[in-house]
Amino acid sequence: MSELLKTQEIIYSKGNAIKVYTDKDIASAYVAERIAKIIKGKQSTGERAVIGLATGSTPKGVYKELVRLHKDEGLSFRNVSTFNLDEYYPILPIDDQSYVSFMKNNLFNHIDIDSDYVHIPDGTLSIEGIQAYCDLYEQKIVDFGGLDIQLLGIGRTGHIGFNEPGAVSDSRTRLVTLNDITREDAKDDFGGKEKVPTQAITMGVQTITQAKEVILMALSSRKAEIIKKALEGEVSADIPATFLQRLSNVEYILDSEAASLLSK
Ligand code: GLP
Repeated sequence: MSELLKTQEIIYSKGNAIKVYTDKDIASAYVAERIAKIIKGKQSTGERAVIGLATGSTPKGVYKELVRLHKDEGLSFRNVSTFNLDEYYPILPIDDQSYVSFMKNNLFNHIDIDSDYVHIPDGTLSIEGIQAYCDLYEQKIVDFGGLDIQLLGIGRTGHIGFNEPGAVSDSRTRLVTLNDITREDAKDDFGGKEKVPTQAITMGVQTITQAKEVILMALSSRKAEIIKKALEGEVSADIPATFLQRLSNVEYILDSEAASLLSK
């Protein structure tokens, strides 16, 4: 690992490593490097890497770096299968705000991934068909051998994916109702809160926590309060990200602003 990718500071909270970076780009480059390592490891044994992906502004730097690794350093994604955490419901894939558009614009259009191996929950299903579809989504993850790594951001409500307050630890992929704060935070993307869908399809807490490795990223002072609660608070469905505290394979990647309220 290059000098540039070295951790700036490591804090331990409840047995978990929290890596705090002064520079967001270095934090993103570290995460991209972790993902690239898994992809290359699987290439060397002729296997597929199964990567769980997230949306939002937080992982954009990771995707930018993965695209750079592809273009400048020849990292291939031909052996990669991806599963995205969530999608708004209802939404058309071609809508600008859909997570399909987000993933194409930020990653998939710039790398050599085979689109047959890209999975993003379908925001166009009829309401009656959703649960069967979600069960199949779970089954596909299992069929691919499980998620080798799941990348996460965190919402100001403490959501991971779209598992809002109240989501239980054994929840699986399903249709959920979005929290008011989450819709407020998405209003600029949609041109008004009233235009933000009220529902979404999301992997469950259990789907996420079953991944072989989990990385939760939080950047900016906007996340400082919820990061303190998520990492240092009681484990509770009130803040679904607290369920990650029970895992031994989770790494928190923060910038100094997001980490600013943590006890040292
Ligand atoms: C959305 C996504 C989450 C993401 C959150 C935070 O709600 N469904 O997966 O973690 O946004 O977004 P941002 O990274 O833009 O703060």
